[in-house]
Amino acid sequence: MFDPSIHPIIHFGTDAVQALSDLYPGRQFHWVRIPEIKDEALENVRLALSGRLASETLYSQGMPDLGQVQALHDGFWHDKDPQNSVLLGLGGGSLMDLVKVLRFVPSQEGWLQQHLDVAIEKSDCLKVPLLLMPTTAGTGSEVTPTATIWNFEKQKKHAFFGPEVLANVAVVDPVFCCSAPWLVSRDSAIDALSHALEAIWNRHQTRQTALWAIEAAQIICHELPLLEDDLDNLARRERLSEAALLAGLAMAKTQTALAHALSYAETAANLKSHGQSCAYWLPFVWQLLMDSACDAVIKENVMKAVGDCFSGPESMRDWLLKMKFSVHPLKGSEGQISQQIEALKMTPRGQNFAGFEV
Ligand SMILES: [Fe+2]
Repeated sequence: MFDPSIHPIIHFGTDAVQALSDLYPGRQFHWVRIPEIKDEALENVRLALSGRLASETLYSQGMPDLGQVQALHDGFWHDKDPQNSVLLGLGGGSLMDLVKVLRFVPSQEGWLQQHLDVAIEKSDCLKVPLLLMPTTAGTGSEVTPTATIWNFEKQKKHAFFGPEVLANVAVVDPVFCCSAPWLVSRDSAIDALSHALEAIWNRHQTRQTALWAIEAAQIICHELPLLEDDLDNLARRERLSEAALLAGLAMAKTQTALAHALSYAETAANLKSHGQSCAYWLPFVWQLLMDSACDAVIKENVMKAVGDCFSGPESMRDWLLKMKFSVHPLKGSEGQISQQIEALKMTPRGQNFAGFEV
């Protein structure tokens, strides 16, 4: 099902953490992780690495800001032996984006600045094998060749991307998502739902990406409302992890589209979580698609994905409002944001959106 030349090798399922025992024998592991993980789950990582854990770095700064990433990156490998190392990132999308940068051993000062917003097709410095373990069911970052680095001072988003950015291995073990509280789980799942829908209403969609995305969206719309009062339900967590992974695989091929393009200004200006920013725009973008003359198959695929739960964008908006998201209205504000939409039509994500005429 998964092509390792395009995607990382994937270990999925409850106790997938055991796969660490056989990976990169003889190498030291440097572990970067978020602090909010249950002790038992952490112990399972240590046991699987059986004495190969050489360092542990905690990261709790949230969405990676350029200045912070730069400072961490500059000093990270000074006291380590990168030739003999593996980097293991355990956390949500922000942490995984951070370690996608850290796995490059910079050959000179300012390396990161020179590699932002240009595709990294060929590494010009030493690159340490990277293993990613998500602790949220959402971002899909474990299977995408992209990291988002923010410059919050300038309200600017940077992409660190290209084939060389892809991790070597993704270990998706839903046990590690059980530590995530409701709001984090909710926002992550809506990010994954956005990846699924953006892969469907995308000019680069294929039969395969549509299949992955439809399945992902169906799972999320069904499971997410049930999770709120059932956060320790591992079976539910596993289904949401599978959905996020499928949505991530679809998005890795299609890239995202208009809802993500709109979301970034929301995140930069209001410091909302990425999931909240996507939720804000998702029904509005679906309505734009419905009003467009795009391929009927795309509209049908959206209904296959979410039609069991929503009769249309307004009903999705009600669902999101019920989960206490702030959501842009569907009607009555077209004039105010038409300039924003017009400007985004020219951007790569805007051009991915199948609801715009070419
Ligand atoms: Fe996203």
